[in-house]
Amino acid sequence: MASATSPSRVLPFQPLRGPIPLPGDGLSAAEQQRAYARVALQDQLLLPEGYRSEVLLQWGDPLGSGRFGFNNDYIAFTSLDGQRALLTVNFEYISPRPWAAAYGEVIGRALPFEALRKLLAERGGSVDVLSLAADDPLRRPLLEVATAAMQDVGIGVVEIERGADRSWRRRSGRFEPRYDRRISGLTGLERPEARLQCSGPAAAVFRRRQRLGYDDGLGDRVIGSFANCAGGQTPWGTVLSAEENIQTHVVEAVYADGSSPSPAERPFRFDAERLEGLGNPYGLAGNKYGWMVEIDPRRPERPPVKHTALGRFRHEAVAVRARAGEPLVVYSGCDRHGGHLYRFVSAAIVRDPRDPANSRLLERGRLEVARFDANGGGEWIPLQPQTRLNPLLPSHFSRFDLPAVLPLPHSDRSKAGAELMQSDAQLKVYRQRFGTLADLYPGRGEEQLGAILIDAHLAANAAGATLTARPEDTELDPRTGDLLITFTAGGSDGEGQADPAIFRGPNGESSWPFGWLMRLEDSTAGAERPGGAFRWRMAATGGTPWQGGLGFANPDNLAIDRSGNVWMVTDRAAVNGSADVFGNNACWIFPATAAAGGEPLLFATGPMECELTGPCFDTSESTLFLAVQHPGEDNATHRSGDEEVQAYTLRDRNGDSFEQLRQVPLGSNWPSATAGTAPRPGVVAIRRLDGAPLLAGSGGRPQT
Ligand code: FEO
Ligand code: CA
Ligand code: CA
Repeated sequence: MASATSPSRVLPFQPLRGPIPLPGDGLSAAEQQRAYARVALQDQLLLPEGYRSEVLLQWGDPLGSGRFGFNNDYIAFTSLDGQRALLTVNFEYISPRPWAAAYGEVIGRALPFEALRKLLAERGGSVDVLSLAADDPLRRPLLEVATAAMQDVGIGVVEIERGADRSWRRRSGRFEPRYDRRISGLTGLERPEARLQCSGPAAAVFRRRQRLGYDDGLGDRVIGSFANCAGGQTPWGTVLSAEENIQTHVVEAVYADGSSPSPAERPFRFDAERLEGLGNPYGLAGNKYGWMVEIDPRRPERPPVKHTALGRFRHEAVAVRARAGEPLVVYSGCDRHGGHLYRFVSAAIVRDPRDPANSRLLERGRLEVARFDANGGGEWIPLQPQTRLNPLLPSHFSRFDLPAVLPLPHSDRSKAGAELMQSDAQLKVYRQRFGTLADLYPGRGEEQLGAILIDAHLAANAAGATLTARPEDTELDPRTGDLLITFTAGGSDGEGQADPAIFRGPNGESSWPFGWLMRLEDSTAGAERPGGAFRWRMAATGGTPWQGGLGFANPDNLAIDRSGNVWMVTDRAAVNGSADVFGNNACWIFPATAAAGGEPLLFATGPMECELTGPCFDTSESTLFLAVQHPGEDNATHRSGDEEVQAYTLRDRNGDSFEQLRQVPLGSNWPSATAGTAPRPGVVAIRRLDGAPLLAGSGGRPQT
C-alpha cells in the first residue's frame, strides 16, 4: 500500500491508501481498477509520510513486581511535570497461539505447554482444578501455565520521560522509577494486603455470609483484575480500567441474590485455540469481575477499587462528565451482541471536577440504561428494585425475519443465569409472575440493589433496555458535549442480538456486521431526576463504499483531540468472512472540518493479525500513543515465504466490479521485522518528523 495521490484538503498528511477503493482516494474509476488490482498487505505499522513510530514498551519488559503484559489495550497518559509522565496500560487477554509460541523466546523461560496439552487432551480438554488430587501430575504444569498467563494480564503503570529530542522513552538509569507498578490477574493471591477493594452496593452482597452460591471467603476484597479492555480518565487524575470479557475465565451467570455458581462450572481449558477458565485454579468468584476499576497512577500505595455502583457487565467504554454543580455522569457500554449502553449518575454533586475526593462520587448513585426509539429519540431507564419490567417482545424480531434472541433472568429463580424468551406467550406468563426488578431480585437495601447491579445485563433486558450492537467505546466531544459511541457490529451470537429497528445497514439491512459511529445528545445528563430523554443519530456507518459504508469496518476505540478531530481504530476479527476485504486493522481520522458524515482519512494500518487499540495523546498532542494488540494472533510467528494470495471482487467508483489479487503474509514478526522472530504486542509512540503537533497546520475552521 502506498500513499494516495491526492493530498487531504483538511489535514496535513496524505492519507494511506488501504486495500479497497474509496470515494476520496483521488482516482478515477479506471485508475482505481488499475491501482487496486494487486495489493500486498504488509507486516508493519504503516503511517503517512512525515510521521514515524517508535516502540516504547513491549510484552515481557520488566515492570514493577512483574512484567509488561500481553495484548496491551487502553492507554492513559498522566503528565507529572512536563518532562515526566505516566502511562497506564491495560493488558486484556492471552492469544494462546502467539503467546505460547513466543513465551520462551520473550520471557526466557520454558513453560510445559506440550505436556499440559497432552495431559488435558487425555481428560477431554478441560478440568476442574479445584477437584484434582494434591498429587495429580496435571497440577504442576497447569498451575505453571495458568500463573504465567495471569501474570500477563491486568493493568500496568509505567514512568516515561522526554529525551533530548522531546520524544518519550522509558524512565530508567540512575533514577529508580517511583510509579512503575503492575496489577495482574493474581494480585493479592499471595499478599492479602494487596487485594483490590470494592465500593458500592455489591460489596454488601460480597460480605453476606448466607448465599445461594459460592463463597470465595474474601468478603469485599478481590484477587486481581483481568480482561481489562478500554478505559478512561477522570478530571481528578485517576484512570478507569474496564473489565470486559470475564466470561472466558470465570462464571458470568449469577443467582438471584447476586452470588456466583462454583468456579467448577468454568473449568480450565488450554489447547492451540483456547485458554479458558483461568479463574478456576484459584477459586475466583465470577461476581467479583466485570467491573469498572479505578486506579490512581500517581498513588502506587493505593489499591485499585472496583466501583460496583457502575454495574457489572462486559464493560468496555467509559466516558466521564464532571461539571461543577451537577451530578457526576459516567457512560459505559457492554460489548456483547445485544449489550447495552449505560449511564451512572452520582447521588452527590460535583463541586470541583479536579478534586481527588470525587472518587467517592463513584460509590453512590443510580445506574441507568438506554432505550432507543427508531425515530432518533430515547430515554434512560433506572435499574432499581421498583423499576417495572418492560422487555422487548420476541415477536419484534420476526418483523425483521430474524429469530428472537431475548435472554431474561431465569424464571426459575433458584437457577443462575438466563432463560431465552422464544414467544410472546412465554413472555406474557413471565410478566404475570414478575412485575418489577424487586420480584426477580428479592432482598432489601444494598443487598437487593447489589444483586441487580451484579446481574445488570439481564436486569436491563428485563427493564426494556435496547439490545445494541456491541458498544466498544464512548467519548464526550469537548466541542458539542455529545457522546460519541462506536458500535462495532450488528448481528447475533445466539445469546444476544442487536435490535434491528435501531441498528440497520445503509439500505435498511436488518443485520449489519460492519458497525457504526453514533452521536448521542444527552440533554438530561446534568439533571438530578432519575431517567430522562436523549436524541441520537448515526454519524458514520462502516462497510464498503459500494454497500453504502464509509470504507472502515468494526470501529472500536475513539480519541478526540482538542481540535475535535475524531481518531478511531478498528477491530475487524482476523478471520471474518466478508469483512476480510477491509484488510488489516487501522486508525482513521474524521476531520473536525469535514462535513458531518464525511469519509474518514486513513492514518495508520497495523501489522498482520493485530488490532490497534488505546489511542491516546500527550499533553501537547505531538505524540500519539497506540497499542499494537495481538500481532500474529492466528498464525503466530511469520516464517519467510509463508503467505497466501486471496482473491476479492471489488467495485470502482462507478459501481463496476473488478478482481483483486491480494498477497497476505501469514503470522507476524512485528516489531522486529525479522522472519522467524516471534511477534510481540507493544505500545508505540507516533510523532511527526518535524516534531510539531500531530495535526498542526490543519486547514479550515472546526464545524460546530
Ligand atoms: Fe476488548 Fe470489545 O474489545
Ligand atoms: Ca476494544
Ligand atoms: Ca476489541
